[in-house]
Amino acid sequence: MNFQLSEDHIAIRDAARDFAENEIASSAVERDKTGEFPYEIVQKLGELGFVGMMVSPEWGGAGLDTVSYTIALEEIAKIDASVAVIMSVNNSLVCWVIETFGTDEQKERFLRPLATGQKLGAYCLSEPGIGSDATQQATTAALQPDGTYVLNGAKNWITNGTTADHYIVFAQTDASKKHHGITCFLVDKGMPGFEIGQKEDKLGIRSSDTCSLGFTDVRVGPERIVGSVGQGFKIAMETLNGGRIGIAAQALGIASGAMERAIRYSFERHAFGKPINQLQAIQFKLSDMQVKVEAARMLIFRAARNKDLGLSYIKEAAMAKLYASRIAMEVATEAIQVHGGYGYVREYLVERALRDAKITEIYEGTSEIQHIVIARQLLKEYEKS
Ligand code: CAA
Repeated sequence: MNFQLSEDHIAIRDAARDFAENEIASSAVERDKTGEFPYEIVQKLGELGFVGMMVSPEWGGAGLDTVSYTIALEEIAKIDASVAVIMSVNNSLVCWVIETFGTDEQKERFLRPLATGQKLGAYCLSEPGIGSDATQQATTAALQPDGTYVLNGAKNWITNGTTADHYIVFAQTDASKKHHGITCFLVDKGMPGFEIGQKEDKLGIRSSDTCSLGFTDVRVGPERIVGSVGQGFKIAMETLNGGRIGIAAQALGIASGAMERAIRYSFERHAFGKPINQLQAIQFKLSDMQVKVEAARMLIFRAARNKDLGLSYIKEAAMAKLYASRIAMEVATEAIQVHGGYGYVREYLVERALRDAKITEIYEGTSEIQHIVIARQLLKEYEKS
């Protein structure tokens, strides 16, 4: 067992840190206010290989491991969690699906441009009436006599929703088979009947783009099915297992960024005749933050490493997301407390950490769903033994 980062991992961390500090930080505050999407940053992330990090070089990706991906995501999220989620969705919810389940033709046509940042992807599972209870997909894809499918329905809370080019869409092809009748499709922006809703005005991750989507008689050919007919729900779940590692890393970055700001501030701010970090009340807060951040990082590395080794990572990914998102809220709250009144205003950045942290307890499976996933896996392990 080795707890040290390899030289390659350190190089990736430094490259991501450098990029975040030099290319993302300067516009993060303004984009949080305006909600403007970071087009240029995403393009540069693509050029650096950060949007197709785990995709094989054969398809234009960087061919890196999942541990590298989490290290890069933490660094990006420390500076701007909005950029981190754009990157996470494209990597783990879109590229991974196509590379794992797609045909070579789909990889050439869709994966290559997505992995190199020429195109952006979105993952569409949630619906207006269906979030956690994801087996109940109401969007339908009806098989036509000519072999094409006609999609009807709506999707909600879609990250990269207005900005994506290609959409992974789950739809019911045979309702009688329940979740075994769900199929995964690739849909493109601009297809007739595919309507993109207004960008949502959110509490946090404000410069990432979230919207609802409508499908009215959208006709797609069978060559746009990812995997096989009826395999869609399994694909959706397996994709989210990996996605949860990404969101955990995003949450970790929010937490470690807030912690670092609190530490720096604690040297500058004086009270009772000394820097506040000489007060035990503040030392307790800083030490608690450090323990939580480090524990979250270990859970994330464990999940990522299991994935890289081909071991099961369902429970590990859920544990990493559950814990990292919880401590992101706690650390951000305490970072504000260390800053006192200054923490409550935008200038000191830690209030954004709290607003950004909240969504990590909701998307890619709420904390309540992570509890269910962990408990089910745990009980299965005990049943076997
Ligand atoms: N990995 C692999 N397979 C899984 C799985 C997992 N984590 N969880 C469930 N499955 C499989 C089961 O093995 C089962 O397969 P079979 O029927 O073939 O045996 C099938 O899925 C159905 O599972 P259950 O019988 O356990 O169904 P359930 O309804 O009791 O529970 C659930 C399902 C776990 C609650 C699931 O619906 C779920 O994960 N819900 C949360 C959905 C979610 O995370 N949504 C996030 C939206 S995406 C997003 O946020 C993206 C974004 O833009 C940022």
